[in-house]
Amino acid sequence: MLVNQQTSEHSPLGEDGGKNVIITGASKGIGKAIAEIFAANGHNLFLCSRGEVALYKTVEELITRFPAITIKARPFDVSKKEECIAFGNWCLSFAVPDILVNNAGLFEPGSVYNEPDGTLESQLSTNLLSAYHVTRTVLPKMMERTSAGKNSGHIFNMCSIASLHAYANGGAYSISKFALYGFSKNLREEMKPHGIKVTSVHPGAVLSDSWGNYDNSTKRIMEAGDIARMIYAASQLSTQACVEDIVIRPQLGDL
Ligand SMILES: NC(=O)c1ccc[n+]([C@@H]2O[C@H](COP(=O)([O-])OP(=O)(O)OC[C@H]3O[C@@H](n4cnc5c(N)ncnc54)[C@H](OP(=O)(O)O)[C@@H]3O)[C@@H](O)[C@H]2O)c1
Repeated sequence: MLVNQQTSEHSPLGEDGGKNVIITGASKGIGKAIAEIFAANGHNLFLCSRGEVALYKTVEELITRFPAITIKARPFDVSKKEECIAFGNWCLSFAVPDILVNNAGLFEPGSVYNEPDGTLESQLSTNLLSAYHVTRTVLPKMMERTSAGKNSGHIFNMCSIASLHAYANGGAYSISKFALYGFSKNLREEMKPHGIKVTSVHPGAVLSDSWGNYDNSTKRIMEAGDIARMIYAASQLSTQACVEDIVIRPQLGDL
């Protein structure tokens, strides 16, 4: 099923000032909050997650609240290379993105010495290779457009404080997030002359499904909207300014 909300003002997409924003893992948590803030500010969305129920529920909510924008959403599993490429090409069939948010990720706690066999492979494919392959699929078209002097592009990679500091029980998750940060830093260097900004986002603990039934009644950890607001702010600077890293922690520090 393809969910589509398109108004007559949006043809071709993006030429009315609304940017085209791709977000992976947008059905819940931080990805959903990022989708909400871009939607609230009049931008068009291209979304995926694996499960279709939560994804289409999110789209329905957003369409109801922000009827003037275009939203396209479809399930893809970005832990698989062929689905990353299919998702990127599906997005390109509608528009060249102005902004790509590589957000999809999975937290599997463990330690190198005892996590189940295959954990590293699974964490690398979801947390690192997804960003690499989706980016490689859409980037040439983004570069073509910026070299023609049209706008600038922006890629956000959802790293973590686990990309910056090792900690016990980080295991394959932390390894994959260090690697994602390596990808993001390399991309930043490569894209400097191409008018495409690259921002690495490093949140500490954020309340989301990956925290299960965590009781945040004392407001110990952050809200997904905190991360979304920082990303949106970074997307609003002049073409000559690039926020390279966003590091954001709970006020009381890491857990
Ligand atoms: N929450 C935190 O404390 C925290 C801290 C630092 C960094 N992060 C990072 O922030 C990102 C979002 O995390 P979150 O806490 O918002 O998690 P979440 O609430 O579990 O949401 C994850 C989103 O990604 C999607 N997703 C997962 N695997 C996918 C795949 N293979 N293909 C496509 N979509 C996939 C999920 O939908 P489906 O399950 O339906 O696919 C969901 O929409 C992750 O990269 C995470 O590592 C989170």
